[in-house]
Amino acid sequence: MDKFVVSGGKRLKGSISVSGSKNGVLAIIPATILATGVYHITNTPNLRDVWTMSQLMNSMGAFCELNENSLFIDTRELNKFEAPYELVKKMRASIYVLGPLLARFGEAKVSLPGGCAWGPRPVDLHLKGMEKLGAEITIENGFINAKAKKLKGARFHFDVSSVGATGNMLMAAVLAEGTTLLTNAALEPEITALARFLVKMGAKIEGIGTTELEIQGVTSLNAVDEVAIPDRIEAATFLIAAAMTKGEIELKNVNPYHLSSVLAKLEDSGSEIDVNGDTIYLKQDEDPKPIDFTTSVYPGLPTDLQAQWVAYMMATKGMSKVTDTIYTDRFKHIPELQRLGADIKMVDNVAIINGGKSLSGATLMSSDLRGSVALVLAGLISEGSTEVLRIYHLDRGYEKIEDKFAKLGATIKRVKTELI
Ligand code: UD1
Repeated sequence: MDKFVVSGGKRLKGSISVSGSKNGVLAIIPATILATGVYHITNTPNLRDVWTMSQLMNSMGAFCELNENSLFIDTRELNKFEAPYELVKKMRASIYVLGPLLARFGEAKVSLPGGCAWGPRPVDLHLKGMEKLGAEITIENGFINAKAKKLKGARFHFDVSSVGATGNMLMAAVLAEGTTLLTNAALEPEITALARFLVKMGAKIEGIGTTELEIQGVTSLNAVDEVAIPDRIEAATFLIAAAMTKGEIELKNVNPYHLSSVLAKLEDSGSEIDVNGDTIYLKQDEDPKPIDFTTSVYPGLPTDLQAQWVAYMMATKGMSKVTDTIYTDRFKHIPELQRLGADIKMVDNVAIINGGKSLSGATLMSSDLRGSVALVLAGLISEGSTEVLRIYHLDRGYEKIEDKFAKLGATIKRVKTELI
């Protein structure tokens, strides 16, 4: 098992290119189930979650091969319609195969994902939505069994805005008979990118980029190539890292529109930001200011940046509050950050940070993807070295992170360890 050893005290400075979006590609890959043929997805991030999704596709008879950042997918021999527990437990996004399998083959068996490191993550909306489209759903031995001779278009309102359930419903509805109207649909950029990919395949979708999606079912779709959108969470993680070390960074291959709410918060905290096409430049000269951060659905502040913002606020002098309204229990990183000397109190889903305390390196345990990168960021502003264990969590979603940090002048070493 690998760990990171992070040397603290360096000011980040330099230029890096952002990878393709993990969550974007995790939606695109299952969408290829909808049409038989060959696909090339370029700008694919080469990381663990993409390998897991590819493994899942291969276990169903497809052929996925990732070469550097180019993903080749051949769905011509896909003939099994099951997502086993071993893969779903590694990655909850496996549930994305439910909609396309049902739509194309009329059946799907998907292991129930269960809880997540930070608490429950239900899939009720995915199931309710499929039922609305005419699927018969039963739960047996920990598996979702779904069947439908032919899905039929319907109206469906998401009680809670859900990225995954919107993606799944989109993929099911494009091949359903008749019209589907989805309201309170998620409009995260990864969902918009999925909808655009489906349209490229021949789907008829109106309202892309809004919370109301109207899908006119078609009888078949075609295999097409795609370029993955940039990873807005990776981009923001590096911007935050630069700001908290009073650094200077140029990020290339980003979509600044996807980061509007985050850029505004960074400016509030004292960052000087310049946007030029697909490049963002950030410089932080003054001491960062304490700024509150409340997560919400897009275009609000993403829950996937909550942990990193907590780490950032440790570098400020004063009080700030970080509230997660999407995943109210997603705070496993707090006790680890406290071990560095941070003064953070939790009140329900609010982290109250009294920043500016002196921080000294320690050995920290990762327990989820975004939490683990927050520990690395905190290590950058702590004195001495910080060890971050179980970085397989981090490897799920950050491509070559230590190389990118090295380009910015930070020293983060990957070390094999017996410690688990
Ligand atoms: C996706 C992202 C994840 C991000 C999250 C929120 C992927 C692969 N993952 O996860 O990185 O943190 O969006 O932006 O894209 N909910 C229900 N019932 C459901 C489904 C969700 O109540 O059936 C609730 C959840 O508990 C949560 C909220 O809806 O409170 C949003 O979750 P959702 O958008 O579905 O997250 P994911 O798609 O799993």
